[in-house]
Amino acid sequence: MVAIPSEIPSQPEARSPLHAPGLHESGLKHTSGEALYVDDLPAPPGLLVGHVIASPHAHARLVRRDARRALSLPGVHAVLFAQDIPGANDVSPVRGVHDEPLLATDEVHCIGQAVAFVVAESAALCRQAAALVELEYEVLPACLTIGEAIEKSLFIPHPFYPNPHVIRRGEPEAALIAAPVRIQGECMTGAQDHFYLETQVSQAVLEEDGAVRLWSSTQHPSEVQEKVAEVLGLGRHQVTVEVPRMGGGFGGKETQAAPFAALAALAAYATRRPVKVWLNRDQDMEQTGKRHPFWARYDAGFSEDGRLLALKADLVSDGGWSNDLSHAILDRALFHMDNTYFLPHVEVRGRVARTNQPSNTAFRGFGGPQGMYVVEEVINRAAERLALDPAEVRRRNYYREAPENQTHYGQAVEGNRIPRIHAELMTSSEYARRRAEIDQFNASSQWTKRGIAYQPVKFGISFTTSFLNQAGAFVVIYADGTVQLNHGGTEMGQGLHTKMRTVCAHELGVPVEHVRVMTTATDKVPNTSATAASSGSDLNGMAVKAACEVLRERMRPVAAKLLQVEGEPERVVFSAGKAFVPGLAQRTLSFEEVTRAAYAAQVSLSATGYYRTPDIGYDRMTGRGKPFHYYAFGGAVVEVEVSGLTGEHRVRRVDILHDVGSSLVPTIDKGQVEGGFIQGVGWLTCEEVLIDAKGRLLTHSPDTYKIPALGDAPEDFRVALLERAPQEDTIHGSKAVGEPPLMLAIGAVTALRHAIGAFGPPRTEVQLASPATPEAILRAVETARAPKR
Ligand code: MTE
Ligand code: HPA
Ligand code: MOS
Repeated sequence: MVAIPSEIPSQPEARSPLHAPGLHESGLKHTSGEALYVDDLPAPPGLLVGHVIASPHAHARLVRRDARRALSLPGVHAVLFAQDIPGANDVSPVRGVHDEPLLATDEVHCIGQAVAFVVAESAALCRQAAALVELEYEVLPACLTIGEAIEKSLFIPHPFYPNPHVIRRGEPEAALIAAPVRIQGECMTGAQDHFYLETQVSQAVLEEDGAVRLWSSTQHPSEVQEKVAEVLGLGRHQVTVEVPRMGGGFGGKETQAAPFAALAALAAYATRRPVKVWLNRDQDMEQTGKRHPFWARYDAGFSEDGRLLALKADLVSDGGWSNDLSHAILDRALFHMDNTYFLPHVEVRGRVARTNQPSNTAFRGFGGPQGMYVVEEVINRAAERLALDPAEVRRRNYYREAPENQTHYGQAVEGNRIPRIHAELMTSSEYARRRAEIDQFNASSQWTKRGIAYQPVKFGISFTTSFLNQAGAFVVIYADGTVQLNHGGTEMGQGLHTKMRTVCAHELGVPVEHVRVMTTATDKVPNTSATAASSGSDLNGMAVKAACEVLRERMRPVAAKLLQVEGEPERVVFSAGKAFVPGLAQRTLSFEEVTRAAYAAQVSLSATGYYRTPDIGYDRMTGRGKPFHYYAFGGAVVEVEVSGLTGEHRVRRVDILHDVGSSLVPTIDKGQVEGGFIQGVGWLTCEEVLIDAKGRLLTHSPDTYKIPALGDAPEDFRVALLERAPQEDTIHGSKAVGEPPLMLAIGAVTALRHAIGAFGPPRTEVQLASPATPEAILRAVETARAPKR
């Protein structure tokens, strides 16, 4: 059980929902099917359906377009091209970058790029019409891979800074030469489809005087508002965007919901009818970007006892055809090249390759997993070469006391919980005993081998684009004492609304049932940031708290008067739906009595709240700064079993100890840890994005693209939240949780390497590709078994 925090008075019936287990506010509705998504909204009269005609070529000139035959079909209302856009033909998310036309003009840069938009009375009619639209292309040479882009020097320039982004400390070249052990090589991590259960969808309806209202499945309603306004040539006051909830986002709806919303709005403008666009799975997978694949070349120097003395690494990500968020994602990859390890001499550099692929985008971890993977591969190889337990090599390299607590970009790792997590998890998971047992098992089992690994994670919390770290809230109390909560964050299943409702109920001292979280809307809370960077609770929570504090202070004098302590409002406490004065428990008021009295006394019962993260910033030119408000930490022990005959594996047991500070709602956080971990295992072991020689996506549906299913969850899954670990200067001592646990899954790779290595002689350096699919594992087993030449 979670203790009642000290800030809550213990009478009468004082009970705050904060820091206590609780249900997800939509959990029952998710399971019964009653939760409403964009497609569940009642269809407005005259609703038309939109359909994207996408480029079938990775790179081509568009030489002819003719929609006359399509338009002659009854029920087809419009076929829209670039020239039909009244405002800016651009939906690129980064200010100052205009490299992403909503509809292609004379050139297409990837398969799936939108060329035309068909608007008709049904989806079937749309498809029929689309087949009649005549488009002629002149195919151009395409660049499809990072390797090709490097060869041809095709990189996406940073909009404001020189390429590459370099972060450097000390003298890595000299330290490498002096190092007794050298680990050099290359590695790749692959793409990952977001596979949110609800695909991209938007509905646009015209209002009076040329205004437009949208329902969009987006993590970033304010950006959808901005892009729609720009495309239509309107002021943002003419555009309202509402988000009921998403059936998952995972970063895939941070920027890439906007084009579909803009197309729906454009079509509504052109036809004067409401328009909805909802992609089917194959369209969604073909037309939207994925997690960035990364290539890295590294050169590392170790001492004989496994201390990482120097690291140089060169990273190139596959940005796809346009900027999108690729540079911010690359930055986060470089910031996480250290993970939990102190790198005395280091240089990391990164560039974004331009390829003729859909533009890759945010995905849980936002480059962090890709950066971290490199240093973890380096450590795994060193441990294998030196015949040391990789967990011990990791421990020897943890951040230590100052000055060995300085990251390569100069931020101090404060409140480092990694040593504590390491010690507690090693004991609770019985790592040492199990590792010994596994070595015994492996010695006696020829075709089945097991592996175990320990994976620590440190993840920086804050948008690295510092100004984005702001949020707002608008809290409304009605005279009957019930509350509507508006905040700038969106709900994608992660439980943000549950947490915000809990914070609000705690601040006002009312039961959670009296607080209703409203759908996110740009006319309630303006100028919001995306719900991203795991910062939803941190930022919006503070804003909600601020708004509630204003309201509480306004109500206090009203309650004080009724409680006969007029002139001493500070003595009034709001808790458990009551207002009272501690020590004067004979007289209590219901919250409703107070709000009715406040209304009668002409006291305003609505307020806004605002928060911005203090004291963060980063200088890209010097590669120094404090980009993060704090770090989240975690650790995982992962045990796997590998078949040397088929390359298949099972995850036998996972123990996680994760740091969420003082959890706002521990049940929600635990769900995030479980889901994040499994999604990470998917990225690293079974989800493989494949294209053919022409750039066509071969894995465009669940029959060829495999995400983890229930049966792929760890057979024995033990998730614990680090106790007694409040964080300073955050919402009620909590920490962000959305992304960090994904990276714990790198432990599965290390465990697989342990098992695969057991097929070979001692000190086998495992060569395992990512993702570690059965094919990749089988190849690695065969290489391990082959006698060294
Ligand atoms: N959990 C669920 N169920 N669905 C999601 O789409 N997105 C993840 C994470 N957890 C996601 C999720 C990502 S990428 C982020 S950045 C955070 O949730 C965003 O929400 P938060 O800031 O409120 O944690
Ligand atoms: N994380 C997620 N989304 C972002 C970030 C970030 O650090 N910066 C800009 N968008
Ligand atoms: Mo999450 S990748 O920051 O939306």
